[in-house]
Amino acid sequence: MYVCLCHGVTDTDIRRLVRSEGVCTMRELSRQLGVATQCGKCGQCAREVLREAVQDVRDEAVCCPGLAAA
Ligand code: FES
Repeated sequence: MYVCLCHGVTDTDIRRLVRSEGVCTMRELSRQLGVATQCGKCGQCAREVLREAVQDVRDEAVCCPGLAAA
């Protein structure tokens, strides 16, 4: 689903960035993808998707440490 219409950012883009770049803050997410830097309406949704994505990576690290490094 689209999270940020201004920059065409999807939840998949955010999850991919968390996994590949280790992004875990809104500041870093905004810097890399531009979310919440124009109209700002996506801020809350982006924050929720980011939180879920970070938690997913942490959960995988607990049950299968090799996945977090992949
Ligand atoms: S919808 Fe993300 S900045 Fe406008």
